Amino acid sequence: MKKLFIIANWKSNKTTTEAHEWLVEAANAYEPIANQDKEVIVCPSFTSLPSMKAYLIQKNLSIKLGAQDVSPFNDGAYTGEISARQAAELVTHTIVGHSERRKYFHETDEDVIKEVARLIEVNITPILCVSDMSQMDYYLMNGKVILDNADKIIFVYEPPSAISGGGEFHAEDPEEANKNAAEISQKIGRKVITLYGGSVNPENAALLFSKDSIDGGLIGQASLDAEKFMQIIKSS
Ligand code: PGA
Repeated sequence: MKKLFIIANWKSNKTTTEAHEWLVEAANAYEPIANQDKEVIVCPSFTSLPSMKAYLIQKNLSIKLGAQDVSPFNDGAYTGEISARQAAELVTHTIVGHSERRKYFHETDEDVIKEVARLIEVNITPILCVSDMSQMDYYLMNGKVILDNADKIIFVYEPPSAISGGGEFHAEDPEEANKNAAEISQKIGRKVITLYGGSVNPENAALLFSKDSIDGGLIGQASLDAEKFMQIIKSS
């Protein structure tokens, strides 16, 4: 049985109080369904990470924490940025290259390659979003760090057109998503962990995650509700 990675991307949502309430609800439901074959990672805003981390330790829960972004620079005079070394106190994983960071904050492929390098340096697992195969080609041609560390990276095939953006769900066809996810491993030359992202919800998660080349999902809107997120974990 393949291992599934089920990752919540809360984006710019939830205060620390709301994050705590989610975690309390999720913790109660999660304990009976937690197992070795599923790795669950929650990526809240930076503000919620310290209190969530303390709660997870206190309750001895196997849910891991991730950030949604990291600075391409090391520590230094970069106002507003959080470096990988700072993030490493709080998280084991970090999303990089999300299409919303590109669209609204003008992140480039070059930035993303630097971010992956910073994360690898401090042993944080990058959750690297790939919007399409031409982006993957760019990464492999210009980002030696990605090719060299492909086994330490969780790749996510996430077509921007399938992202719900908090509105209606319109996931990519599962066969198409599977074919594109498979292409990431093909381009690297060996099997790498590859998730699918974009409108995953309790109704479609089991089918998407059953596909050969899809090892789980990056889940936005449906992860904001603890019950729905637990349904996804349970159903898959
Ligand atoms: P969505 O978001 O599940 O709301 O489509 C996924 C993502 O952007 O990571």
